[in-house]
Amino acid sequence: MPRYLVTGCAGFIGSTLTDSLLADGCEIVGVDAFTDYYDRAAKEAALRDARDRSSFTLLEHDLATGPLPADALEGLDGVFHMAARPGVRASWGAGFEAYVSDNILATHAVADAAGARGLRLVFASSSSIYGDALAYPTPEDTPPSPISPYGVTKLACEHLLNAHARDSGLEHVALRYFTVYGPRQRPDMAFTRLVAALVSGSEFEIYGDGSQSRDFTFVADAVAATIAAMRDAPVGATYNVGGGSEAALRDVVALVEQLAGRPLNIRYGERAAGDVKRTLADTARIRAELKWEPRTDLRVGLAAQLDAAGALAASAG
Ligand SMILES: NC(=O)c1ccc[n+]([C@@H]2O[C@H](COP(=O)([O-])OP(=O)(O)OC[C@H]3O[C@@H](n4cnc5c(N)ncnc54)[C@H](O)[C@@H]3O)[C@@H](O)[C@H]2O)c1
Repeated sequence: MPRYLVTGCAGFIGSTLTDSLLADGCEIVGVDAFTDYYDRAAKEAALRDARDRSSFTLLEHDLATGPLPADALEGLDGVFHMAARPGVRASWGAGFEAYVSDNILATHAVADAAGARGLRLVFASSSSIYGDALAYPTPEDTPPSPISPYGVTKLACEHLLNAHARDSGLEHVALRYFTVYGPRQRPDMAFTRLVAALVSGSEFEIYGDGSQSRDFTFVADAVAATIAAMRDAPVGATYNVGGGSEAALRDVVALVEQLAGRPLNIRYGERAAGDVKRTLADTARIRAELKWEPRTDLRVGLAAQLDAAGALAASAG
């Protein structure tokens, strides 16, 4: 059975990927530093199922501060590099230093380790590298132009991996995820904040007027694309991973209210610096080359996230 390293294994996407690979019979060495971007308890909860399996080993390690221990890299078939400091808003100001560490320095260390051992590396990049994109839907060859410090670090990581590929022959694949959602979604992300507001009756703040739209991608679809990339992608490929469910935030609010059977308490706030107006992936390349397509539409995926949080109306089930 294949044995993989998953960095960021305690995070939203990393833990879902880890569970899926374990269920397929893979052995997983999971690495996570349990950074302070959000609460450790949420990450521990996300790892609960994985920790029950003998095919899972957890290594608590900060990738930005030192090389991975050699024994963690033994016998591997590939590396899924999901660890990062995510989020656009916190990447401004003094927060940027942590983005440089957890994104650029950490990726450099992982690329060194994978390149030296001839391991294939699948990298979690982001739609944020496009900024306010020059074309919609946005194909992969659209000139990148990130408008947040976070997006700049993700683009830097892509370039860094290309540099490592030339130097060490590193085999890498970059996946540009478009707003991923579903159970375990990070607490700073809109859907999790929506669900929390619904459950507690507290206010939900929309940054701006709610007309900003996103190509929402259900986490199981993102994970399926990630595994397909490890198995089948040509060396050096870059793919958009978009769920094909574009919606404006205010329409998502209406859908949540409908699914939950009760209204939300909404407040409109300032538009957030670095937030793009719109994302929409052109997924022709990944559909053609990896035979991947998103399977979960927004209504079904959102219902799954609400259900996991115990916030689904009985009649909507
Ligand atoms: N969630 C999305 O919508 C989305 C969209 C585009 C790209 N991405 C990318 O996907 C990846 C996963 O995102 P997520 O939403 O699951 O984030 P997350 O914060 O839930 O998971 C990231 C994990 O990486 C760990 N980590 C951070 N820095 C580390 C370091 N230096 N050493 C070891 N571990 C470290 C964190 O502790 C965390 O558990 C990230 O690379 C992110 O940039 C996510």
